[in-house]
Amino acid sequence: MKVLLVGGGGREHAIADALRRSPQVDTLYCAPGNAGIARIAECVPIGTMDFKALTDFAKEKEIDLTVCSMDDPLCAGIVDAFEAEGLRIFGTPANAAIIEGSKAFSKDLMKKYGIPTAAYEVFEDPEKALAYLESAAMPIVLKASGLALGKGVLICNTLEEAKEGVKELMTDRKFGDAGSRIVIEEFMTGREVSVLAFADGKHYKLMSSSQDHKRAGDGDTGLNTGGMGTFSPSPFYTDEIDAYCRENIYQRTMDAMAKEGRPFRGVLYFGLMLTADGPKVLEYNTRFGDPETQVVLPRMRSDIIDVMQACIDGTLDQIDLEFEDNAAVCVVIASGGYPGSYEKGKVITGLDAFEGREGYYCFHAGTAFDKDGNTVTSGGRVLGVTALGKTLKEARANAYNAAGWIRFEGQYMRHDIGKAIDSAQ
Ligand code: AMP
Ligand code: GLY
Repeated sequence: MKVLLVGGGGREHAIADALRRSPQVDTLYCAPGNAGIARIAECVPIGTMDFKALTDFAKEKEIDLTVCSMDDPLCAGIVDAFEAEGLRIFGTPANAAIIEGSKAFSKDLMKKYGIPTAAYEVFEDPEKALAYLESAAMPIVLKASGLALGKGVLICNTLEEAKEGVKELMTDRKFGDAGSRIVIEEFMTGREVSVLAFADGKHYKLMSSSQDHKRAGDGDTGLNTGGMGTFSPSPFYTDEIDAYCRENIYQRTMDAMAKEGRPFRGVLYFGLMLTADGPKVLEYNTRFGDPETQVVLPRMRSDIIDVMQACIDGTLDQIDLEFEDNAAVCVVIASGGYPGSYEKGKVITGLDAFEGREGYYCFHAGTAFDKDGNTVTSGGRVLGVTALGKTLKEARANAYNAAGWIRFEGQYMRHDIGKAIDSAQ
Protein backbone atom coordinates (compact mmCIF):
# COMPACT_ATOMS: atom_id res chain seq x y z
CA MET A 1 0.00 0.00 0.00
CA LYS A 2 0.93 3.67 -0.37
CA VAL A 3 1.23 5.71 2.80
CA LEU A 4 1.63 9.47 3.31
CA LEU A 5 3.04 10.66 6.65
CA VAL A 6 2.51 14.31 7.59
CA GLY A 7 5.25 16.05 9.58
CA GLY A 8 9.00 16.31 9.77
CA GLY A 9 10.29 15.88 13.31
CA GLY A 10 11.93 13.16 15.37
CA ARG A 11 8.55 11.70 16.21
CA GLU A 12 7.73 11.43 12.49
CA HIS A 13 11.08 9.77 11.81
CA ALA A 14 10.23 7.13 14.44
CA ILE A 15 6.73 6.68 12.95
CA ALA A 16 8.26 6.40 9.46
CA ASP A 17 10.62 3.73 10.76
CA ALA A 18 7.68 1.76 12.24
CA LEU A 19 5.73 2.11 8.98
CA ARG A 20 8.75 0.86 7.05
CA ARG A 21 8.84 -2.25 9.23
CA SER A 22 5.32 -3.16 8.09
CA PRO A 23 5.37 -5.61 5.19
CA GLN A 24 2.16 -3.94 3.99
CA VAL A 25 3.86 -0.62 3.12
CA ASP A 26 5.27 -0.48 -0.42
CA THR A 27 5.62 3.26 -0.89
CA LEU A 28 6.10 5.84 1.85
CA TYR A 29 5.86 9.59 1.28
CA CYS A 30 6.49 12.20 3.95
CA ALA A 31 5.38 15.85 3.83
CA PRO A 32 7.63 17.70 4.40
CA GLY A 33 10.00 15.21 6.12
CA ASN A 34 13.62 16.00 6.92
CA ALA A 35 17.12 14.84 6.00
CA GLY A 36 16.81 11.64 8.06
CA ILE A 37 13.32 10.70 6.92
CA ALA A 38 14.58 11.16 3.36
CA ARG A 39 16.70 8.03 3.91
CA ILE A 40 13.57 5.86 4.23
CA ALA A 41 10.76 7.79 2.53
CA GLU A 42 10.22 10.08 -0.40
CA CYS A 43 9.93 13.60 1.01
CA VAL A 44 7.57 16.06 -0.66
CA PRO A 45 7.75 19.81 0.03
CA ILE A 46 4.20 20.41 1.28
CA GLY A 47 3.53 22.19 4.58
CA THR A 48 1.65 20.36 7.33
CA MET A 49 -1.10 23.03 7.45
CA ASP A 50 -1.71 23.09 3.69
CA PHE A 51 -4.66 20.68 3.72
CA LYS A 52 -5.65 21.46 0.14
CA ALA A 53 -2.19 20.58 -1.23
CA LEU A 54 -2.02 17.48 1.01
CA THR A 55 -5.42 16.12 -0.06
CA ASP A 56 -4.62 16.90 -3.72
CA PHE A 57 -1.36 14.99 -3.36
CA ALA A 58 -3.11 12.04 -1.69
CA LYS A 59 -5.61 11.87 -4.55
CA GLU A 60 -3.00 12.25 -7.28
CA LYS A 61 -0.77 9.50 -5.85
CA GLU A 62 -3.71 7.29 -4.83
CA ILE A 63 -2.55 7.15 -1.22
CA ASP A 64 -4.24 4.34 0.72
CA LEU A 65 -3.56 5.76 4.19
CA THR A 66 -2.38 9.13 5.50
CA VAL A 67 -0.95 9.39 9.01
CA CYS A 68 -0.83 12.60 11.05
CA SER A 69 0.25 12.92 14.68
CA MET A 70 0.88 16.65 15.09
CA ASP A 71 -1.18 18.94 17.33
CA ASP A 72 -1.55 21.97 15.03
CA PRO A 73 -2.94 20.19 11.95
CA LEU A 74 -5.09 17.85 14.05
CA CYS A 75 -6.64 20.69 16.04
CA ALA A 76 -7.16 22.63 12.80
CA GLY A 77 -9.08 19.71 11.26
CA ILE A 78 -6.73 17.80 8.96
CA VAL A 79 -8.63 14.55 9.62
CA ASP A 80 -11.94 16.23 8.81
CA ALA A 81 -10.45 17.73 5.61
CA PHE A 82 -9.22 14.32 4.39
CA GLU A 83 -12.43 12.53 5.28
CA ALA A 84 -14.52 15.19 3.52
CA GLU A 85 -12.64 14.17 0.37
CA GLY A 86 -13.24 10.47 0.99
CA LEU A 87 -9.60 9.88 1.94
CA ARG A 88 -8.49 7.50 4.69
CA ILE A 89 -6.44 9.06 7.49
CA PHE A 90 -5.14 7.99 10.90
CA GLY A 91 -5.42 10.82 13.43
CA THR A 92 -7.91 12.61 15.63
CA PRO A 93 -10.82 14.69 14.27
CA ALA A 94 -10.80 18.34 15.41
CA ASN A 95 -13.78 17.98 17.74
CA ALA A 96 -11.82 15.43 19.80
CA ALA A 97 -8.36 16.98 19.31
CA ILE A 98 -9.66 19.80 21.51
CA ILE A 99 -8.61 17.59 24.42
CA GLU A 100 -5.11 18.95 23.74
CA GLY A 101 -6.06 22.17 21.94
CA SER A 102 -7.85 23.62 24.96
CA LYS A 103 -6.58 23.01 28.46
CA ALA A 104 -9.74 24.71 29.76
CA PHE A 105 -11.78 22.05 27.91
CA SER A 106 -9.73 19.13 29.21
CA LYS A 107 -9.73 20.39 32.80
CA ASP A 108 -13.52 20.86 32.72
CA LEU A 109 -13.90 17.37 31.21
CA MET A 110 -11.88 15.83 34.04
CA LYS A 111 -13.83 17.71 36.68
CA LYS A 112 -17.19 16.71 35.15
CA TYR A 113 -16.31 13.01 34.89
CA GLY A 114 -14.30 12.61 38.09
CA ILE A 115 -10.93 11.97 36.44
CA PRO A 116 -8.13 12.72 38.94
CA THR A 117 -6.23 15.92 38.15
CA ALA A 118 -4.89 19.02 39.94
CA ALA A 119 -7.46 21.49 41.32
CA TYR A 120 -7.77 24.55 39.04
CA GLU A 121 -9.61 27.66 37.91
CA VAL A 122 -9.95 29.06 34.37
CA PHE A 123 -9.56 32.83 33.71
CA GLU A 124 -10.21 35.06 30.71
CA ASP A 125 -9.73 38.33 32.57
CA PRO A 126 -6.20 39.15 33.83
CA GLU A 127 -7.59 41.27 36.69
CA LYS A 128 -9.59 38.32 38.02
CA ALA A 129 -6.58 36.03 37.65
CA LEU A 130 -4.44 38.48 39.65
CA ALA A 131 -7.09 38.79 42.35
CA TYR A 132 -7.31 35.00 42.65
CA LEU A 133 -3.55 34.71 43.07
CA GLU A 134 -3.56 36.99 46.14
CA SER A 135 -5.03 34.23 48.30
CA ALA A 136 -3.62 31.18 46.45
CA ALA A 137 -0.96 28.85 47.90
CA MET A 138 2.51 28.95 46.30
CA PRO A 139 4.08 27.39 44.25
CA ILE A 140 1.34 27.59 41.66
CA VAL A 141 1.11 26.63 37.99
CA LEU A 142 -0.07 28.88 35.15
CA LYS A 143 -0.96 27.39 31.77
CA ALA A 144 -1.92 29.03 28.51
CA SER A 145 -5.11 27.24 27.51
CA GLY A 146 -4.23 27.00 23.80
CA LEU A 147 -1.37 25.30 21.94
CA ALA A 148 2.05 26.72 22.82
CA LEU A 149 4.61 24.10 21.68
CA GLY A 150 4.70 22.61 25.16
CA LYS A 151 6.14 25.86 26.50
CA GLY A 152 3.07 27.70 27.78
CA VAL A 153 3.37 26.32 31.32
CA LEU A 154 4.86 28.47 34.09
CA ILE A 155 5.68 27.13 37.53
CA CYS A 156 5.74 30.09 39.91
CA ASN A 157 7.30 29.91 43.35
CA THR A 158 6.22 33.31 44.63
CA LEU A 159 3.24 35.63 44.26
CA GLU A 160 5.46 38.10 42.37
CA GLU A 161 6.49 35.46 39.85
CA ALA A 162 2.87 34.40 39.41
CA LYS A 163 1.74 37.99 38.80
CA GLU A 164 4.52 38.44 36.28
CA GLY A 165 3.39 35.17 34.64
CA VAL A 166 -0.20 36.36 34.24
CA LYS A 167 1.17 39.50 32.57
CA GLU A 168 3.36 37.46 30.18
CA LEU A 169 0.61 35.04 29.18
CA MET A 170 -2.49 37.24 29.17
CA THR A 171 -1.38 40.84 28.70
CA ASP A 172 1.87 40.55 26.71
CA ARG A 173 0.58 37.43 24.92
CA LYS A 174 3.99 35.75 24.87
CA PHE A 175 2.30 32.67 23.36
CA GLY A 176 -0.18 34.63 21.25
CA ASP A 177 -3.85 33.80 21.46
CA ALA A 178 -3.02 30.59 23.37
CA GLY A 179 -2.89 32.92 26.40
CA SER A 180 -6.30 34.58 25.95
CA ARG A 181 -7.55 32.04 28.48
CA ILE A 182 -5.36 30.59 31.20
CA VAL A 183 -5.67 27.74 33.64
CA ILE A 184 -4.28 28.36 37.13
CA GLU A 185 -3.74 25.09 38.92
CA GLU A 186 -2.47 23.52 42.08
CA PHE A 187 1.23 22.60 42.06
CA MET A 188 1.71 18.85 42.41
CA THR A 189 4.84 16.86 43.13
CA GLY A 190 5.71 13.37 42.04
CA ARG A 191 7.29 11.41 39.25
CA GLU A 192 5.98 11.91 35.73
CA VAL A 193 5.04 9.10 33.38
CA SER A 194 3.80 9.28 29.80
CA VAL A 195 1.34 6.63 28.71
CA LEU A 196 0.27 6.57 25.08
CA ALA A 197 -2.79 4.72 23.87
CA PHE A 198 -4.21 3.86 20.49
CA ALA A 199 -7.93 4.63 20.44
CA ASP A 200 -10.81 3.88 18.08
CA GLY A 201 -13.57 6.06 19.53
CA LYS A 202 -14.66 3.41 22.00
CA HIS A 203 -11.75 1.13 22.89
CA TYR A 204 -8.15 1.87 23.75
CA LYS A 205 -4.96 -0.19 23.75
CA LEU A 206 -2.00 1.01 25.79
CA MET A 207 1.52 1.27 24.49
CA SER A 208 4.47 0.70 26.80
CA SER A 209 5.06 3.51 29.33
CA SER A 210 7.86 6.06 29.06
CA GLN A 211 9.30 9.11 30.79
CA ASP A 212 10.37 12.40 29.24
CA HIS A 213 12.94 14.91 30.57
CA LYS A 214 11.49 18.35 29.90
CA ARG A 215 14.08 20.66 31.43
CA ALA A 216 17.09 21.75 29.39
CA GLY A 217 19.78 21.08 31.98
CA ASP A 218 21.18 18.14 33.95
CA GLY A 219 19.41 17.50 37.24
CA ASP A 220 16.16 18.94 35.81
CA THR A 221 17.44 22.51 35.86
CA GLY A 222 16.97 25.28 33.32
CA LEU A 223 14.10 26.09 31.01
CA ASN A 224 11.33 23.80 29.82
CA THR A 225 11.95 22.34 26.36
CA GLY A 226 10.04 20.10 23.99
CA GLY A 227 11.86 17.17 25.68
CA MET A 228 15.59 16.35 26.01
CA GLY A 229 15.40 12.57 26.24
CA THR A 230 13.23 9.63 27.20
CA PHE A 231 13.28 6.06 28.44
CA SER A 232 10.82 3.20 28.14
CA PRO A 233 9.38 1.37 29.97
CA SER A 234 9.10 3.43 33.16
CA PRO A 235 9.99 1.20 36.12
CA PHE A 236 7.82 3.48 38.27
CA TYR A 237 4.70 2.58 36.32
CA THR A 238 3.88 -0.52 38.35
CA ASP A 239 1.07 -3.03 37.82
CA GLU A 240 -0.76 -1.44 40.73
CA ILE A 241 -0.58 2.03 39.20
CA ASP A 242 -1.60 0.58 35.84
CA ALA A 243 -4.69 -1.02 37.38
CA TYR A 244 -5.65 2.25 39.10
CA CYS A 245 -5.28 4.26 35.89
CA ARG A 246 -7.26 1.76 33.83
CA GLU A 247 -10.08 2.04 36.30
CA ASN A 248 -10.04 5.77 37.02
CA ILE A 249 -8.43 7.48 34.06
CA TYR A 250 -8.17 5.71 30.69
CA GLN A 251 -11.60 4.21 30.04
CA ARG A 252 -13.25 7.07 31.89
CA THR A 253 -11.63 9.53 29.48
CA MET A 254 -12.71 7.48 26.45
CA ASP A 255 -16.28 7.26 27.77
CA ALA A 256 -16.34 10.96 28.69
CA MET A 257 -15.29 11.99 25.18
CA ALA A 258 -17.88 9.68 23.60
CA LYS A 259 -20.57 11.06 25.90
CA GLU A 260 -19.65 14.61 24.94
CA GLY A 261 -20.20 13.68 21.28
CA ARG A 262 -16.44 13.77 20.65
CA PRO A 263 -15.43 10.10 20.33
CA PHE A 264 -11.65 9.93 20.49
CA ARG A 265 -9.68 8.06 17.85
CA GLY A 266 -6.02 8.30 17.06
CA VAL A 267 -3.32 8.41 19.72
CA LEU A 268 -4.33 9.61 23.17
CA TYR A 269 -1.38 10.66 25.29
CA PHE A 270 -1.83 10.66 29.06
CA GLY A 271 0.75 12.83 30.85
CA LEU A 272 0.53 11.51 34.41
CA MET A 273 2.01 12.57 37.71
CA LEU A 274 2.36 9.87 40.35
CA THR A 275 1.49 11.92 43.44
CA ALA A 276 1.24 10.83 47.07
CA ASP A 277 -2.56 10.84 46.54
CA GLY A 278 -2.31 8.55 43.53
CA PRO A 279 -1.82 9.13 39.79
CA LYS A 280 -3.26 12.36 38.38
CA VAL A 281 -3.53 13.67 34.83
CA LEU A 282 -1.14 16.56 34.11
CA GLU A 283 -2.16 16.88 30.50
CA TYR A 284 -3.68 15.10 27.53
CA ASN A 285 -2.21 15.22 24.06
CA THR A 286 -3.94 14.12 20.90
CA ARG A 287 -0.87 12.53 19.34
CA PHE A 288 2.30 10.55 19.84
CA GLY A 289 4.67 12.29 22.27
CA ASP A 290 7.96 13.70 21.10
CA PRO A 291 10.48 12.27 22.09
CA GLU A 292 8.44 9.49 23.78
CA THR A 293 7.67 7.94 20.40
CA GLN A 294 11.41 7.52 19.74
CA VAL A 295 11.60 4.98 22.62
CA VAL A 296 8.11 3.46 22.37
CA LEU A 297 7.75 2.56 18.69
CA PRO A 298 11.13 0.82 18.29
CA ARG A 299 9.88 -1.59 20.98
CA MET A 300 6.55 -2.31 19.32
CA ARG A 301 6.22 -5.81 17.90
CA SER A 302 2.78 -5.42 16.31
CA ASP A 303 2.38 -4.20 12.74
CA ILE A 304 1.55 -0.49 13.09
CA ILE A 305 -0.60 -0.55 9.94
CA ASP A 306 -2.93 -3.16 11.43
CA VAL A 307 -3.29 -1.09 14.59
CA MET A 308 -3.93 2.19 12.74
CA GLN A 309 -6.51 0.55 10.46
CA ALA A 310 -8.30 -0.87 13.52
CA CYS A 311 -8.40 2.62 15.08
CA ILE A 312 -10.12 3.96 11.97
CA ASP A 313 -12.51 0.99 11.67
CA GLY A 314 -13.46 0.85 15.37
CA THR A 315 -12.09 -2.68 15.75
CA LEU A 316 -9.23 -2.07 18.14
CA ASP A 317 -10.69 -4.57 20.63
CA GLN A 318 -9.78 -7.31 18.15
CA ILE A 319 -6.07 -6.38 18.04
CA ASP A 320 -3.28 -7.72 20.26
CA LEU A 321 -0.90 -4.83 20.78
CA GLU A 322 2.49 -6.33 21.64
CA PHE A 323 5.76 -4.84 22.79
CA GLU A 324 9.20 -6.44 23.11
CA ASP A 325 10.35 -7.31 26.59
CA ASN A 326 13.31 -4.92 26.34
CA ALA A 327 14.11 -1.27 27.05
CA ALA A 328 15.02 1.86 25.10
CA VAL A 329 16.68 5.17 25.90
CA CYS A 330 16.67 8.27 23.66
CA VAL A 331 19.17 11.10 24.14
CA VAL A 332 18.32 14.32 22.30
CA ILE A 333 21.24 16.19 20.76
CA ALA A 334 20.31 19.85 20.50
CA SER A 335 21.80 23.03 19.09
CA GLY A 336 23.75 25.04 21.68
CA GLY A 337 21.44 27.74 23.12
CA TYR A 338 18.17 25.76 22.74
CA PRO A 339 15.45 26.41 23.96
CA GLY A 340 16.65 30.02 23.52
CA SER A 341 18.18 31.25 20.29
CA TYR A 342 20.69 29.06 18.45
CA GLU A 343 22.52 28.90 15.12
CA LYS A 344 21.48 26.66 12.25
CA GLY A 345 23.28 25.18 9.25
CA LYS A 346 26.03 23.28 11.13
CA VAL A 347 27.29 20.23 9.23
CA ILE A 348 26.57 16.97 11.09
CA THR A 349 28.98 14.03 10.89
CA GLY A 350 28.78 10.49 12.25
CA LEU A 351 25.32 9.69 10.91
CA ASP A 352 26.50 6.76 8.79
CA ALA A 353 27.71 4.94 11.92
CA PHE A 354 24.07 4.01 12.57
CA GLU A 355 23.52 2.33 9.20
CA GLY A 356 22.97 -1.40 9.53
CA ARG A 357 23.53 -1.39 13.31
CA GLU A 358 20.64 -3.25 14.84
CA GLY A 359 19.16 -1.75 18.00
CA TYR A 360 20.53 1.75 17.27
CA TYR A 361 18.51 4.58 15.76
CA CYS A 362 19.36 8.14 14.88
CA PHE A 363 16.03 9.93 14.54
CA HIS A 364 16.29 13.33 12.88
CA ALA A 365 14.31 16.17 14.42
CA GLY A 366 15.75 19.42 13.05
CA THR A 367 17.91 18.57 10.04
CA ALA A 368 18.03 19.60 6.39
CA PHE A 369 20.34 19.30 3.39
CA ASP A 370 22.58 22.24 2.44
CA LYS A 371 23.26 23.11 -1.19
CA ASP A 372 26.18 20.67 -1.29
CA GLY A 373 24.03 17.80 -0.06
CA ASN A 374 25.48 17.77 3.48
CA THR A 375 23.13 17.06 6.36
CA VAL A 376 23.01 20.20 8.51
CA THR A 377 21.22 21.37 11.64
CA SER A 378 17.95 23.25 11.09
CA GLY A 379 16.26 23.29 14.49
CA GLY A 380 16.71 23.37 18.26
CA ARG A 381 16.34 19.68 18.81
CA VAL A 382 18.50 18.19 16.06
CA LEU A 383 18.72 14.43 16.60
CA GLY A 384 17.28 11.78 18.92
CA VAL A 385 19.78 8.99 19.43
CA THR A 386 17.92 5.90 20.57
CA ALA A 387 19.35 2.55 21.59
CA LEU A 388 17.73 -0.66 22.76
CA GLY A 389 19.02 -2.93 25.51
CA LYS A 390 17.87 -5.91 27.52
CA THR A 391 17.56 -3.58 30.51
CA LEU A 392 17.18 0.18 30.91
CA LYS A 393 20.77 0.42 32.15
CA GLU A 394 22.08 -1.39 29.10
CA ALA A 395 19.93 0.76 26.79
CA ARG A 396 21.23 3.92 28.48
CA ALA A 397 24.87 2.86 28.12
CA ASN A 398 24.25 2.04 24.45
CA ALA A 399 22.45 5.34 23.80
CA TYR A 400 25.21 7.46 25.33
CA ASN A 401 27.85 5.46 23.47
CA ALA A 402 26.02 6.09 20.18
CA ALA A 403 25.48 9.79 21.00
CA GLY A 404 29.28 10.00 20.98
CA TRP A 405 29.38 9.11 17.27
CA ILE A 406 27.67 12.40 16.36
CA ARG A 407 29.55 15.64 15.86
CA PHE A 408 28.43 19.14 14.99
CA GLU A 409 29.53 22.59 16.13
CA GLY A 410 27.80 23.69 19.34
CA GLN A 411 26.09 20.35 20.00
CA TYR A 412 24.48 19.99 23.40
CA MET A 413 22.87 17.11 25.29
CA ARG A 414 21.89 16.21 28.84
CA HIS A 415 24.13 13.65 30.51
CA ASP A 416 21.58 12.26 32.95
CA ILE A 417 18.79 10.89 30.76
CA GLY A 418 17.46 7.81 32.52
CA LYS A 419 19.42 8.48 35.71
CA ALA A 420 16.15 8.12 37.64
CA ILE A 421 16.06 4.41 36.86
CA ASP A 422 18.99 3.84 39.23
CA SER A 423 16.71 4.53 42.15
CA ALA A 424 14.16 2.00 40.90
CA GLN A 425 16.40 -1.03 40.44
P1 AMP B 1 2.01 20.24 30.60
O1 AMP B 1 2.31 20.81 29.24
O2 AMP B 1 0.66 20.61 31.12
O3 AMP B 1 2.32 18.77 30.70
O4 AMP B 1 3.08 20.87 31.56
C1 AMP B 1 4.47 20.81 31.27
C2 AMP B 1 5.23 20.37 32.49
O5 AMP B 1 5.00 21.28 33.58
C3 AMP B 1 4.78 19.02 33.01
O6 AMP B 1 5.39 17.97 32.35
C4 AMP B 1 5.21 19.13 34.46
O7 AMP B 1 6.58 18.89 34.60
C5 AMP B 1 4.94 20.58 34.79
N1 AMP B 1 3.60 20.72 35.36
C6 AMP B 1 2.44 20.91 34.73
N2 AMP B 1 1.40 21.00 35.57
C7 AMP B 1 1.90 20.85 36.80
C8 AMP B 1 1.32 20.84 38.11
N3 AMP B 1 0.03 21.02 38.31
N4 AMP B 1 2.14 20.65 39.16
C9 AMP B 1 3.48 20.49 38.97
N5 AMP B 1 4.07 20.50 37.77
C10 AMP B 1 3.31 20.68 36.68
N1 GLY C 1 7.16 15.04 25.19
C1 GLY C 1 5.99 15.75 25.50
C2 GLY C 1 5.05 15.95 24.40
O1 GLY C 1 5.17 15.37 23.34
O2 GLY C 1 4.11 16.72 24.56
